[in-house]
Amino acid sequence: MPREILVTSALPYANGRIHLGHIVEYVQSDIWVRAMRMAGHTVHYVCADDAHGTSIMLRAEKEGITPEALIEGVWKEHTADLRDFGVGFDHYSSTHTEANRELTYAIWRALEANGHVESKPVKQLFDPEKQLFLPDRFIKGECPVCHSKDQYGDACEVCGSTYNPIDLIDPYSVVSGAKPVEKESLHFFVKLADFEALLKGWLEDRRAAGGLQSEVVNKLKEWFADGLRSWDVSRDAPYFGFEIPDQPGKYFYVWVDAPVGYFAAFKELCESGRKPDLKPADFERFTQPGHGTDMVHFIGKDIIYFHTLFWPAMLHGAGLRMPTAVNVHGFLTVDGAKMSKSRGTFVNARTYLEHLDADWLRYYLASMLGPTLADIDLDLKAFEERVNSHLVGKWVNIASRCAGFLHKLFDGRLADALPDAERTRYDNAAKKLEACSALYEARDYAAAMRLIIEVADEANAYVAEHAPWVLAKDESKRAELHVVLTLALNYFRLLTIWLAPAVPATAVCAFEFLGDAPTCFDAARTPLLGHTIRPFKALATRIDPKQIAAMIEASKESLQAAVPASSAPHPGPLPQAGEGAKPASVAAQSPASSGPRSPAPGPATISIDDFARLDLRVAKVLACEAVDGSDKLLRFELDAGELGKRQIFSGIKAAYPEPSKLVGRNVVFIANLAPRKMRFGISEGMILSAGSGGGDLFLLDADHGAVPGATVK
Ligand code: 2FM
Ligand code: ZN
Repeated sequence: MPREILVTSALPYANGRIHLGHIVEYVQSDIWVRAMRMAGHTVHYVCADDAHGTSIMLRAEKEGITPEALIEGVWKEHTADLRDFGVGFDHYSSTHTEANRELTYAIWRALEANGHVESKPVKQLFDPEKQLFLPDRFIKGECPVCHSKDQYGDACEVCGSTYNPIDLIDPYSVVSGAKPVEKESLHFFVKLADFEALLKGWLEDRRAAGGLQSEVVNKLKEWFADGLRSWDVSRDAPYFGFEIPDQPGKYFYVWVDAPVGYFAAFKELCESGRKPDLKPADFERFTQPGHGTDMVHFIGKDIIYFHTLFWPAMLHGAGLRMPTAVNVHGFLTVDGAKMSKSRGTFVNARTYLEHLDADWLRYYLASMLGPTLADIDLDLKAFEERVNSHLVGKWVNIASRCAGFLHKLFDGRLADALPDAERTRYDNAAKKLEACSALYEARDYAAAMRLIIEVADEANAYVAEHAPWVLAKDESKRAELHVVLTLALNYFRLLTIWLAPAVPATAVCAFEFLGDAPTCFDAARTPLLGHTIRPFKALATRIDPKQIAAMIEASKESLQAAVPASSAPHPGPLPQAGEGAKPASVAAQSPASSGPRSPAPGPATISIDDFARLDLRVAKVLACEAVDGSDKLLRFELDAGELGKRQIFSGIKAAYPEPSKLVGRNVVFIANLAPRKMRFGISEGMILSAGSGGGDLFLLDADHGAVPGATVK
């Protein structure tokens, strides 16, 4: 049954550039949209810039421009980047529009009228110099647990502890450097407890219908364990956003109007008259319950809570439809590690496009993407090899090897019919690839790509076996040659139809060459016969490893030149209770403007006795695993020789995404650090690593021969 589906991708913040971490999501959703259309469904696909919040306000201020000017410039850059990656939104808006203000107000008024809003005073840290309430991520100080300096207000990146910003030692405002003070102010809340039963039912219902992944539902259920607390949806001026009706000086928290932006963008599309199948009245059919339409969101795993608790609660509370599906993907790693600015693996979309073809990355990502929350690794060598072997070697080459003979010897005209054996071959291949339709729908693109490449292998084996270049030399074999070329080029067309959602721009060129423009998967059932094709033009060139090296080099350079305020890896740590803004964006944005912390001076000298107080030891890793519920921690079990076994939690997960690989190696640790009780168990020491933190951390090693328990002096 054909469906009518409104599809969205998460709205990128309007204060930074699109990078490859974002691209995973846009490519995943764009492939889905294209595949669903080719399967015969009606799909409307919208997105927008997420234009509000403290980060955007402060960045504009720093640049000496208005927030409006900032978001306008970013919008142009974002739309160009996404267009050049082949992401085909029907409409790309901004959350800073009148349509969004009206819808946000309407939803808010309905929530109020239905009794789901409450207000109460909240104590928060306030920057007395800047006259600004500070979101957790705009406060730094010394970790109250491990005493690492310059840790954010909500969590320590070194030891992984989470805490209240008020507990930080020597806190300072990242914005002005001033010491924050506590201040009280009235806040508005949405009473999520009102929706608990409804949300529980919705989660299970969506899980059963395939609209939510089980991993997501299980994660969310943990949140229900202690009951849902009310959600703080207001922020005090100064704030760049929508002022709350009848509450001067109070603004909607950016995460209120951000998802409403999905609706606003869609409303603008309905009213634009740009799509013949969409009229202004359709807006209601997609946003009110009971019209049989679908709404499908694509998001990263860092914003699950917003989309599966807050947003559905808001919608239901305002009498609107709830999402049909929230499809969650993992984060992008590059060469097995978190994207790193210093290594040049933090690549902006534009930098990629300056060196490589968008479809190549789209294909590689498709070959890696499945329906789970697993992270996707861009292994640069595998990327090069896969593109060269699959796309150029196995797909495009079929056409490039056969087209010339067809033009030279048959005026570019395919045979009028295929003999039974060849026709059966074609039908079987076409039948086999029909499974891709369901695989695309289930977002198992990796499986779809495998199947396509299997058929490409069959096609190449056929061409190799019948060697048209040999047949062409023998005039008596013209009929046979014509059949071989006709089947080979139909194999090429078949593969192109099924690859089209993944590599749309190259597919368009391929169809131009074939003189054909199929718009649905069903077109693959019937081969092209008695049809004249155009001369072959190169559809693709192999990746030269130098292009990849140049892109990495350029990423290093561009970051040295200027760190854009929010080129944070999209998938940042989970926002806890505070600002949804990306933490690293704040870090990048805060060369501590008015300079509270100039570069830290080296430590003062210590005596040898001070050093002797440290009991540093070598240990062998017996086990190492990620810690459930922590974004940062790995749990180590160490053989510390004469000291016995030790359990240590270390905040280096970002640098070692495959912890099991650490088993068997030596590490150095502080053995006489007082044991510390953490949320996940007792940590008996601290493992040493070098680097600046996050993905840039390297464990110290000891040469072979060092035995567990050996002292380090
Ligand atoms: O996490 C982010 O990048 C947010 N700007 C996503 C917003 S998605 C939607 F809810 F608006
Ligand atoms: Zn700490």
